[in-house]
Amino acid sequence: MFTLEAIKTLKKSGTVAPSSKFLVKKMTKPINDKDNIIVEFGTGNGVITEGILDKITDNSQILSFELNEAMYLDALETLPEDDRLQLLNESALEFDKFLKEQNIEKVDYFVSSLPLSLLKKADIHYLMNKVTGLLSYGGMFIQYQYSLGKRDLLKGYFPSVRLGFTPLNFPPAFIYYCTMIG
Ligand SMILES: C[S@@+](CC[C@H](N)C(=O)[O-])C[C@H]1O[C@@H](n2cnc3c(N)ncnc32)[C@H](O)[C@@H]1O
Repeated sequence: MFTLEAIKTLKKSGTVAPSSKFLVKKMTKPINDKDNIIVEFGTGNGVITEGILDKITDNSQILSFELNEAMYLDALETLPEDDRLQLLNESALEFDKFLKEQNIEKVDYFVSSLPLSLLKKADIHYLMNKVTGLLSYGGMFIQYQYSLGKRDLLKGYFPSVRLGFTPLNFPPAFIYYCTMIG
């Protein structure tokens, strides 16, 4: 289902296959064992969401945003019911509204699969301004991409951008680990 929908909506999904278990591991590796607020952008079929659920404490929370309704429904059906997880069929660009509704003031980890190379520049800036404003001290923005095209843009927002890579994904992926502490 994911692959069919991803191909049908390629200009928005930016991929043809869900992330591999190797990429999921790299995307979730920095998440520590404290009670965390995690915001995920681009749930897809929930493969990274499940990796996050496997790592986090009982009192952590995930708000996961997926714009595509078919993918959202697929994730809803696929992922186990879990009190820690809220799946939202909403745009990541407006994630802050949902945090505000729930009186959440800071986010410990943003875990993003958004295809930044396909988003409008203005939308990326709109999103990154909110992300940096809501990231907790010591928190991290984690993003994967299939190219290094947005590295400089991310460096403009974060004093520290560490790069990871896995060839064990289709396509091979770069992972950006971005923090406000240089
Ligand atoms: C590259 S796929 C990643 C899916 C999954 N997380 C994975 O790693 O396999 C990107 C996902 O972001 C979703 N997406 C694109 N723009 C979005 C937006 N503005 N808000 C929320 N989701 C969005 C797409 O529909 C797609 O499911």
